[in-house]
Amino acid sequence: MAAHVWGTGTSEYDALTRVGPGTPGGDLLRRYWHPVALAEEIPPGGAPVPVRIMSEDLVLFRDEQGRPGLLGLHCSHRGADLSYGRTEDGGLRCLYHGWLYDRSGRCLEQPGEPAGSTFHERIRHPAYPCVERADAIFAYLGPGEAPEFPNYEFLVVPNENVFAIKLFHACNWMQGNEGNIDLLHLSFVHHMVSSNGSDVAPGPIDHRGAAPYREKVEAELTSYGLRVCKVRELNDEEKEFYLCTYVAPNWYAFPGGIVGDDGHSLNWHVPVDDTHHWKFTFIFNRKQPLNKHAIRSGRQAMTEGYRSARHIQNRYLQDRESMDTYYAGMGTVFQAHDMCMTVGAGPIQDRSQEHLTTQDAAMVAARTLLLKGARDIAAGRDPQGVIRERQQNRFPRLFTWTSAIVPKDTDWKAYFHEKDREFEAELMGAR
Ligand code: FES
Ligand SMILES: [Fe+2]
Repeated sequence: MAAHVWGTGTSEYDALTRVGPGTPGGDLLRRYWHPVALAEEIPPGGAPVPVRIMSEDLVLFRDEQGRPGLLGLHCSHRGADLSYGRTEDGGLRCLYHGWLYDRSGRCLEQPGEPAGSTFHERIRHPAYPCVERADAIFAYLGPGEAPEFPNYEFLVVPNENVFAIKLFHACNWMQGNEGNIDLLHLSFVHHMVSSNGSDVAPGPIDHRGAAPYREKVEAELTSYGLRVCKVRELNDEEKEFYLCTYVAPNWYAFPGGIVGDDGHSLNWHVPVDDTHHWKFTFIFNRKQPLNKHAIRSGRQAMTEGYRSARHIQNRYLQDRESMDTYYAGMGTVFQAHDMCMTVGAGPIQDRSQEHLTTQDAAMVAARTLLLKGARDIAAGRDPQGVIRERQQNRFPRLFTWTSAIVPKDTDWKAYFHEKDREFEAELMGAR
């Protein structure tokens, strides 16, 4: 494939949507660790599972010691599907002629070959390093030495403080990613009112179409992505900040599922191929275990086999009679609203047809970061956020904020810089 020449413009964004090996988007994403499955998909002693990640067909399995391994799906002998294989003798054995692979892709045995054959030593089957953390399996699919496994806070708290789930999306990963950063949408598609007519999720419009609030979405660069804030003017004296964090290239933390600043939720968009992706959602609490059973019950009502019960084929079960209460007419589950919007833009959104506004500036800043990362790779450098030194493997400014009500002249960046100092002091005190 010819080397991509980086300039500027919509076609650049289009290049980022391509995720296979050797594509601009694929090369960028491959420099980072990503979740590739939930741990529950490969229970100890259970069957290997086929997984498709960034247009690569792979098989995920546990060896007899319970350690996860991620190999190319097709046997290096004659291409049989290894997900039907036997887990034994220190690896995964192909059913067709018994070749045995360990987690690093070494071929340990070729039992059909003559005694003394060393051919198996020259086989290097595709294999990617895996780490099990936060009820998920993470893998590095990139070239060379894997970077440090990132010490994001949700990956270092005890497992009982984290809940993980995934949801299939029939669209390109960037649409999901950008849907997070586009904070204005919270006040529209997710907007709903209670039976007494008061706003449950208040927005710049209410259910009668009035416009009680003015909002703007702004961003600030961080060492690993963007801080994104929605600033809402409440009245002549006060405004409200809602703070989220984008971590390049493909995940986003928001204050969902946890009360106060004790933790946050995050969406991590991992491509299956150019036109499908998994949205992995993690919910974590800094200070106490989660009621995973309750969260899971709520999620099971929504999904079947990690698919949404509301989907494009059933038009998301939209009930137009309910639109006085639910802006989208699609009930209370935010994931369905988001899916309708992101999948609805097409398998790969045609960004040449967009008409962006100042409210989209944060999303454009995220695109700019991705383009910069792709250019860094083309120039032989690591993109932003790839950690090689253990001392740099920390993310002290990575937090979110549900609602800070402040005097009208407060600057949100300064306000949260002060919170940074408080967080840092708390972290130092905890040591
Ligand atoms: S195809 Fe797998 S051992 Fe022959
Ligand atoms: Fe949303």
